[in-house]
Amino acid sequence: MIKYIHLDTIESTNDYAKQHPEIFDPNAITCITAEEQTKGRGRFNRHWVSPKGENIYATFYFALPIATPQIGSLSQIAALSVVKTLQELGFFLEIKWPNDVRIEGKKLAGVLTETRFHKEVIEIFLGIGINVNLEKAAVEKIDQPATSLLLISHKTWDKEDLLRQLSTQLEKDLKVFKKEGFTPFKNDFVTKLCMKEGIIHCFDGEKTWKGHFDSITDEGQLTLRLENGQTHTITSGDVISS
Ligand code: BTN
Repeated sequence: MIKYIHLDTIESTNDYAKQHPEIFDPNAITCITAEEQTKGRGRFNRHWVSPKGENIYATFYFALPIATPQIGSLSQIAALSVVKTLQELGFFLEIKWPNDVRIEGKKLAGVLTETRFHKEVIEIFLGIGINVNLEKAAVEKIDQPATSLLLISHKTWDKEDLLRQLSTQLEKDLKVFKKEGFTPFKNDFVTKLCMKEGIIHCFDGEKTWKGHFDSITDEGQLTLRLENGQTHTITSGDVISS
């Protein structure tokens, strides 16, 4: 069962969750949402555009045993949960490794997973942002090609309904993950992945690697086949172009 906490204006749902450990039941999943974030964060500390009332800004908190295998794949599983949820509503989505959810080649949603060791568990702060009813003018302020469900479908969406559907999917996926890790999700993840053809460039936080897509590991990492024939596995970073 998921417990919900809805807030009005806060800096970031991930930051709020990390600052208020007392509000969590360690044996449940808690979903913290906000109407607006004044310091919404993306991966690599990028700004996440978070105007009032228009989008989903959610952080799912839960705890896992420290020795949980394939824990590095949680962001990929969450991206897949978003894709599956929106697919049910008729959207055709893809994932840009590691966890950008895209539609028509533009970013629609992102996942920011942060962790903290606490006693014998690892606490997970799984942040999900989805551009739901964002208008064109706001989308154009985003520093990369982006879109929203409104712009794609020309109708407004009930973000509470969407959040409940996403939560149900995520809860189901997390149950499978706890038993079997990333492996049961891998084929589906690879199918949804874009930029698998031709040469791709991938930034790992320090260096840009160039090569062909080779495979996804059981930890959700990206393995590239380099031009010299060797393979190279990237744990964290961004596919930046094809
Ligand atoms: C990314 O694609 O870079 C990840 C974006 C994650 C944004 C969400 S919105 C809810 C949660 N709170 C934040 O400050 N960030 C995440």
